[in-house]
Amino acid sequence: MESQSLSQRGSWGSKAAFIFAATGSAIGLGNIWRFPMVVGENGGAVFVFVYILAVALIGFSVMLAELVIGRHTQKNPVGAIHSIKPRSPWKGIGYLGMVTGIAILSYYAVLAGMLAGYFVKMISGTFRGTVTSQMTEKTFTDFSSNPFLVLFFFAVVLFITTYIISKGVKGGIERYTKVLMPILFVLIVFLAIRALTLPGAGEGLKFYLKPDFSKLNFKIVFFALGQAFFSLSLGMGTMITYGSYINKKDNLVSSAGWVTFADTFIALLAGLIIFPTLFAIPGISPDSGPSLVFKVFPLIFSKIPGGQIFGMLFFMLLLVAAITSTISLLEVPVAYFVDERKWSRVKAAVLMGLCAAVLGIPSALSWGGVKFLTKWAFWAKVDFIFGNIALAFGALLICLFVGWVWGVKKAVEEIKSGSEKFTIRRIWIFSIKFLSPIAILYVLIKIIIG
Ligand code: PHE
Repeated sequence: MESQSLSQRGSWGSKAAFIFAATGSAIGLGNIWRFPMVVGENGGAVFVFVYILAVALIGFSVMLAELVIGRHTQKNPVGAIHSIKPRSPWKGIGYLGMVTGIAILSYYAVLAGMLAGYFVKMISGTFRGTVTSQMTEKTFTDFSSNPFLVLFFFAVVLFITTYIISKGVKGGIERYTKVLMPILFVLIVFLAIRALTLPGAGEGLKFYLKPDFSKLNFKIVFFALGQAFFSLSLGMGTMITYGSYINKKDNLVSSAGWVTFADTFIALLAGLIIFPTLFAIPGISPDSGPSLVFKVFPLIFSKIPGGQIFGMLFFMLLLVAAITSTISLLEVPVAYFVDERKWSRVKAAVLMGLCAAVLGIPSALSWGGVKFLTKWAFWAKVDFIFGNIALAFGALLICLFVGWVWGVKKAVEEIKSGSEKFTIRRIWIFSIKFLSPIAILYVLIKIIIG
């Protein structure tokens, strides 16, 4: 019975396939769009410093905790927690994750759609000839405030996401990630080198990497932690779901380590493109928020021979990276309806995709399309509530569940299948039982009581 349901769920072809898919989930707009945005808005290098600490001390531990729940139970988040602790309210972690997944997907797909729009712009030659910062600003405002274009591309992204998810894990996710992610990586390294060699890049590098600790404040810690969960796809059960397809023989510790490292590395590289470029070509402020990447990337392409082609390639690959993340957002609720409610994948994918579509409409229109939604910054509110608070809260519950309810002893046993040594056992236990939950609880309480 168990093995039958397993084979219907599918599993990764190999450890490498899992790592590609999980890195595909982690790497996305979180690294290339959201990370530079929050760095720019929160004082630069000091944020980067806190972020790296948050990833190393908390993000990695939560990642391992999610993978271990997933692999142990081989189930979606709700089913997983139910099978460890039947009939307990802890299942709520899974439900919260499903709602969070749909909510993040709703505005994330809008952004991914805008990247698709930029891909088209690159092909059609919008950024041909001299490109100035005024021009990239205007291009962005004109584009993002056109409701028809934004909604159209949003619908395209959601359609692709739903289609891939309805095809199932193996046929869907694995095939697309294996080839394209490495190409994106090479392109990003190349762009970082170009940005760093622009005259005047030094100032940007200083802003990005030379911390001024006198600027350190609570807000930075909160956003760094939220960004760590967002970027690593943690706190909503994505890694429980992906972990559920991992083979018992695979090493969970090195898998978690690799995904964490790759994700952080790409985010740091994205910053190495954005900030030097920004300071070398004046006109755009580092705290211009969500429009930062749309304004800065066209500038760097104009500094490269054949920049049009590179720009096209870049926006296309970024779109692919975004889609490997949107499918992981949708996979969480879909896996639940398939496993627990015995829906067909197609039905689950279509219905959940539709929920995200409805919820995403006001987000799509809050980029300039509709005045009051824009003023209200609707999408940013959803991002704040779900992309920061809900993920952090979910991560907190996961720590408490693994550390205290299920118990680290059982978790360690599961981790040891596939990685007998588990040398960092003590550190992980300390982080999951004490450090991570206390740190998360502290920032959540403080942000809520103000
Ligand atoms: N980690 C993804 C990114 O950085 C976004 C994401 C968040 C995906 C949460 C799944 C779950 O783009």
